Amino acid sequence: MRLILLGPPGAGKGTQCKRIIEKYGITHLSSGDILRAERAAGTELGKKAQSYMDSGALVPDDLIIDMMIGAIKNAPAGYVLDGFPRTVVQAEGLDKALSQAGEKIDAIVELQVPDSAILSRMTGRRSCPVCGQVYHIENLKPKVEGRCDKGCGPLVQRPDDTPEVVMNRLKTYHEQTAAVVGYYQDKYPILTINADQQIDKVTADIFKGLETLVH
Ligand code: AP5
Repeated sequence: MRLILLGPPGAGKGTQCKRIIEKYGITHLSSGDILRAERAAGTELGKKAQSYMDSGALVPDDLIIDMMIGAIKNAPAGYVLDGFPRTVVQAEGLDKALSQAGEKIDAIVELQVPDSAILSRMTGRRSCPVCGQVYHIENLKPKVEGRCDKGCGPLVQRPDDTPEVVMNRLKTYHEQTAAVVGYYQDKYPILTINADQQIDKVTADIFKGLETLVH
């Protein structure tokens, strides 16, 4: 199965992807996670991405397209794309690579959340730097405050989750990413999900929709 998860920052893409990959046995390919790993490893790509990420802007398309097409090639059993494509140029780059490989996307899942719900989600987010598990100080608490449930160690707050950068990320989303849904309108089945509900209800709606669309 090949899926694309779209939605604004804080829509719950990462949270829902973790559940989708457990159910369907596919790979989670998050452009944000890959970029953060590149930064942590001090690679050229990580260094180039740094200033864009810290301000809430998008990393240039050519860097992202190469990075994600490379990741897709390493996921032959299927994947869910999280945070990519984020511009129409990236969507076109993905289409080109898919058609060269004779592959297609099975469905687009669009998570819809009003801007008003986003800020508290982002500022309350905590994540595990080791396994990537995402928590929230109110909505999805770890069993022990500040520690990953899987025993990895202390949770951290992302540096781009400050109110100022979150507002920039939302602006970037509306200006550059929202159009990607329109790009896919007549290409692939689109599952539109109300993601302004409890996390388990969002998951249930996604699974129900995918059963109808993909099987
Ligand atoms: P990226 O890491 O992709 O960030 P994002 O898209 O802004 O999304 P987030 O990871 O912040 O949110 P999410 O939707 O995954 O929500 P989550 O599940 O964590 O990108 C970071 C940066 O990298 C970009 O700004 C850019 O610079 C660069 N970049 C990445 N991809 C790029 C690309 N393709 N092109 C160019 N640049 C790129 O949930 C958030 C919180 O809310 C959590 O605490 C969670 O517990 C909670 N929560 C989740 N669901 C619910 C719910 N239903 N109700 C209540 N709380 C909830």
